[in-house]
Amino acid sequence: MIDPRRIPVSGEGFKPYDVVVGHGLLREAERWVGPFLRNKRVVMVTDSNVGPLHADAILKQFEAAGHKTHLITVPAGETSKSFEGLKFVIDAMIDGGLDRRDVVIALGGGVIGDLTGFACAIYMRGIDFIQIPTTVLAQVDSSVGGKTAIDHERGKNLIGAFWQPRLVLCDLDALTTLPAREIRCGYAEIIKYGLLGDRAFFDWLEAHDDKVLALEPEALQYAIARSVEMKAEIVAQDEREGGVRALLNLGHTFGHALEAEVGFGDALLHGEAVAIGMCQAFRYSALSGECTEADEARAVKAIHHAGLPTKMSDIRWQDGRNAPFDACRLIEHMGHDKKAEDGHLTFVLVGGIGRAFVAKKVDRAAILDFLVLDGAILSEDAQC
Ligand code: NAD
Ligand code: GLY
Repeated sequence: MIDPRRIPVSGEGFKPYDVVVGHGLLREAERWVGPFLRNKRVVMVTDSNVGPLHADAILKQFEAAGHKTHLITVPAGETSKSFEGLKFVIDAMIDGGLDRRDVVIALGGGVIGDLTGFACAIYMRGIDFIQIPTTVLAQVDSSVGGKTAIDHERGKNLIGAFWQPRLVLCDLDALTTLPAREIRCGYAEIIKYGLLGDRAFFDWLEAHDDKVLALEPEALQYAIARSVEMKAEIVAQDEREGGVRALLNLGHTFGHALEAEVGFGDALLHGEAVAIGMCQAFRYSALSGECTEADEARAVKAIHHAGLPTKMSDIRWQDGRNAPFDACRLIEHMGHDKKAEDGHLTFVLVGGIGRAFVAKKVDRAAILDFLVLDGAILSEDAQC
């Protein structure tokens, strides 16, 4: 039996909380969550995939301890991170008579954490919530740090709030039912931490990626706990993304543009887009002389070795085509990125493995040239 790891998260503007990373935590959810409950009631929000796997068993623990339970289930998938999904959850909270002393548990992936967190941030001007993330991505990234949001038809995560959880419970055993593709997508975010700020962690991942991807208990716990630790260090310095937190977006400006162009959905998952985006950030950095070709090659090799895509030509569009991307359209999407300032592009670039930095006002023409070099096309009537 491997002991759970407790990683404290603290910062200037919020109450400190712990992220617990361990095995078998769902079996003892009441023991972990109980101390945070102030009403004799437990409210849980989950989705239609995760609910049937875990909700009953968890809620029974609370019922045995004398709590009333209330389950809110939304359809699985990004579409629940919408005004409709938010209204559904808030309506259920009102119907259930929740007051400010209630605590809501978010059980699921990043969609459930973001949606529930945002609902809790605005319900009665803010009630407590606890994250029980069940995907790799949610355990290493979305459940930690207090970003909550829903999507708008004009863009992802456009409506949201910073609202920190009171506790995050990462049960590594919950990951065993995840499809392999989702595990790889979460792994892209794990390797991101090594690439952006911890070369020794990257070295370790290079040697142990097969164990992490196979969910081998010790390796998995180390990889997830180290990722959470790094996120906690960054959030402690910069909760509101005024500076260093932007580094967590390594690979995201390139990646988001690809996601927006392909259309959010199964053809290209977020972690896959980030994987290609990180390779592009390394390739662009190497071309601009910021990082060595040796580091670029190592980063791309490690991402490829984990079974993730590394270049635009690895992407199949929604209809199965393998057509090249239009460089101008990608640049246009990058202009809508939340990090863009006054129309200028911002990127996270790298000085090498473990040394990411924020580059503001990056020259559009240089990015356009790079995209063409990297496999995108420039149409004859291009005006960008
Ligand atoms: P998700 O929540 O949609 O989960 C992926 C799929 O896996 C879903 O179908 C879900 O039902 C299923 N699933 C979840 N846990 C499972 C389990 N244990 N076994 C089997 N199936 C399971 O997606 P995600 O990848 O976890 O998160 C993506 C979301 O997170 C996006 O909306 C993204 O914007 C958001 N995000 C937020 C932050 C943040 O800081 N708040 C950071 C990164 C991503
Ligand atoms: N996922 C990026 C952040 O939390 O800032």
